[in-house]
Amino acid sequence: MAYSEQVIDHYENPRNVGKMDAEDAHVGTGMVGAPACGDVMRLQIRVSDDGVIEDARFKTYGCGSAIASSSLVTEWVKGMTLDQASELKNSQIAEELALPPVKIHCSVLAEDAIKAAVEDYRKKQGA
Ligand code: FES
Ligand code: FES
Repeated sequence: MAYSEQVIDHYENPRNVGKMDAEDAHVGTGMVGAPACGDVMRLQIRVSDDGVIEDARFKTYGCGSAIASSSLVTEWVKGMTLDQASELKNSQIAEELALPPVKIHCSVLAEDAIKAAVEDYRKKQGA
């Protein structure tokens, strides 16, 4: 099965790979796994005091589509509010990356990861 150009671009030049200090009060961490294949994704956001995502990082142990999905999401969420980020849909990711049906769960992983990161941040704030 061939990867789309968009997937190859993110796979070869992943944006925002890295790690933030998970103990930092301004950082939210989402760590999720895909039951279908065992791939694991960590997505982290840094949030300003007024609830805007200033930066994002990811590390994905998985297939090219999962890496591309997480790379894309770290780009998209910068500048978003927490509400906007948690409304991201995997279908938007799958469409942007032209994922075939068998790779849809890779984009679900990225949606789950950003939602988990937002939730983690909110929990830390005591909300
Ligand atoms: Fe998920 Fe390769 S690791 S398909
Ligand atoms: Fe499982 Fe891509 S094949 S995340």
